[in-house]
Amino acid sequence: MKTVITIIGCGRIANNAHLPALSKMENIRIKYACDIIPEKAAALKEKFPIVEQTIEDYKIALADSEVDAVFVLTPNFAHYTITMDALKAGKHVMCEKPITVNYALSCEMANEAKAQGKMLNIGVCNRHHKSVEMLAEMNARGEFGNIYHVVCSFRNCRSIPGLGGAFTDKAQSGGGVLIDWGIHFLDLILYILGDAKLKNVTCDTYCEMAKDMKSYKYKKMWAEDTADVENGVNDVDDFVTGYVRTDKASISFNGAWAQNLEKNEMYIDFLGDKKGARLAYGKNFELFSGDTLITENPEYDIPDMYFEEDKAFIESCVSGVKGKNYIDNILESAKLLDALYASAEQNKEVTL
Ligand SMILES: NC(=O)c1ccc[n+]([C@@H]2O[C@H](COP(=O)([O-])OP(=O)(O)OC[C@H]3O[C@@H](n4cnc5c(N)ncnc54)[C@H](O)[C@@H]3O)[C@@H](O)[C@H]2O)c1
Repeated sequence: MKTVITIIGCGRIANNAHLPALSKMENIRIKYACDIIPEKAAALKEKFPIVEQTIEDYKIALADSEVDAVFVLTPNFAHYTITMDALKAGKHVMCEKPITVNYALSCEMANEAKAQGKMLNIGVCNRHHKSVEMLAEMNARGEFGNIYHVVCSFRNCRSIPGLGGAFTDKAQSGGGVLIDWGIHFLDLILYILGDAKLKNVTCDTYCEMAKDMKSYKYKKMWAEDTADVENGVNDVDDFVTGYVRTDKASISFNGAWAQNLEKNEMYIDFLGDKKGARLAYGKNFELFSGDTLITENPEYDIPDMYFEEDKAFIESCVSGVKGKNYIDNILESAKLLDALYASAEQNKEVTL
């Protein structure tokens, strides 16, 4: 029997990641595509014939007993309400990252999933990236020895998403580059370290590059059609720096949606006493070891991580077996984001 799905939110991530992935699957139907902007749902249906019909109100799909699962692909603040409504209506949920705008609401979502006995996966897609999986396996086998420190950079030169729209309005997003990109990097680090537990953190955030919104020349990227430099809000971090102590390695990181440096530096260095690894984000990794510093460049194919993520979700809905993207496994990352923002706000170290 096919798993019947509804897509809620027909923006960038729906068009560029989930619909291309879901369209390749034969064991699903997409009964509804929903967006509060009907033209967006219509455009998605036009582009992906797997979509059967469009709606403006997601509650129509929740009331349909044929629907098994929903994909929540809306701005961050809306994840909470839509996911809670869907779980209460007895649907499984695949919710995009971050879980929502803060840790307390994230915990409520996790509790509701348990109360309803439904799947609730979070779209930290890097857990399904081949490079991340291989590094996690190598670390579990002890190949790095002791990973004592991780250096992480998620810095881009001009990439503030949809300036003045949902991404840069704290009330809608929960934060800026830290919650938007940092969740991907920090979650995959905790995952590779083997579900490291947090001890304490310190962090500083800055909102500098687009203080004068009208003068900021951003590149076209995610959600550019929701940008609003005339009437919108930009009250989130466009640069972040921090330090995290865990029961395993410590982590130092810098993140920038925008900076006055031309290079995009998106990498993670794992420093082990036997071996080190540099992971080029979203790509391959290199390994370094030995007295004369031998470099290894393992060759491997990188399948579409969104396909792998969505396939694993559908399998979990059918089997009832929770996978690595089940919300309980992501809560530590949500707790970390909260602690980092609290540290920046209070200008002091925060103990967890
Ligand atoms: N996993 C990743 O790599 C990745 C990448 C980009 C975005 N995301 C996440 O995906 C989510 C969406 O991001 P995006 O870039 O697609 O944004 P977007 O602005 O392009 O699309 C969001 C869509 O949701 C719609 N929407 C808002 N409220 C709704 C509601 N109540 N019911 C139905 N539709 C509603 C909007 O009209 C819009 O079309 C965000 O949470 C973001 O963090 C994840």
